[in-house]
Amino acid sequence: MNKPRILMARAVFPEIIERLQTVAEVEANQEDVLFTKAELVAKLQGKQGVFTTGTDRIDAEVLAACPELRICANMAVGYNNFDIPAMTAAGVVATNAPDVLTETTADLGFALMMATARRMAESEHYLRAGLWNRWSYDMFAGSDIHGATLGILGMGRIGQAIARRGALGFGMKVIYHNRSRLSVELEAECKARYVSKDHLLAQADHLMLVLPYSAASHHAIGAAELAQMKPTATLVNIARGGIVDDAALAVALKNRTIAAAGLDVFEGEPMVHPGLLDVPNVVLTPHIGSATMPTRLAMAGLAADNLLAFFSGQPLLTPLNPDPRTP
Ligand code: DGY
Repeated sequence: MNKPRILMARAVFPEIIERLQTVAEVEANQEDVLFTKAELVAKLQGKQGVFTTGTDRIDAEVLAACPELRICANMAVGYNNFDIPAMTAAGVVATNAPDVLTETTADLGFALMMATARRMAESEHYLRAGLWNRWSYDMFAGSDIHGATLGILGMGRIGQAIARRGALGFGMKVIYHNRSRLSVELEAECKARYVSKDHLLAQADHLMLVLPYSAASHHAIGAAELAQMKPTATLVNIARGGIVDDAALAVALKNRTIAAAGLDVFEGEPMVHPGLLDVPNVVLTPHIGSATMPTRLAMAGLAADNLLAFFSGQPLLTPLNPDPRTP
């Protein structure tokens, strides 16, 4: 029987390619070429599987042009690069890579919150620029993390991991808002109290965004929401670009209607809104939430395991839509 054929849309660990080669013919992209939609469609001709990252969009147009495609395995927990209804209609399986990145991404969220509250990037630039020639009582005075109120918008696995860090490690008061409320047991474990979105915005000293991107969460934080926050508050976005209206945020930071922000994700990344590059009170990182070597290897391994399971007739590990192989 002919081996199935898989496209790796981006460069990945060589050992992942070797594992996939045990069941499939693999076309790698170790030069890490960023394919246009037309190039991706051309590369997918004759392929039954594709290994994607969050930057590779699979939509109805791609699916219609690639009738042999059966499975798309995303090396990311977020899957807003997939049109799931279109994939389901086309009988194409989608998988993501949850859980393996939860703690690593929560670590980055917490680090970004601390760097933002304690003005670490701003003060490092000052030092590197040779401007540090004396001490003063208010030099880079920021806000406290310990004992402060941590507000979490989106309370999935990563939100819960951040709540635990805040409550158990730093004695923070944790409040959260989510589409659905956690069970009483989980709320107790995370020491988190459910509140309305308005209450969250008004009460948080540090607001952390960890909700998935969708049409419903587009600009969940815009000018009106920023205006509800305390002038001393910080905002951290480790979720997805587009959840925050970056233009409105740049204005709020410039006018100091909130104190500072920490951003790992951006609208239209890798472009960054010029207004955010212009203000000192923002810490910027290039979408590195899950970027530790063990975690990236685990994410790639889980995406590969889904492809291996699919082509060996085994149940999928982390499916996002119905598996057409099951009756
Ligand atoms: C994810 O897994 O969704 C991350 O954003 C990718 O690093």
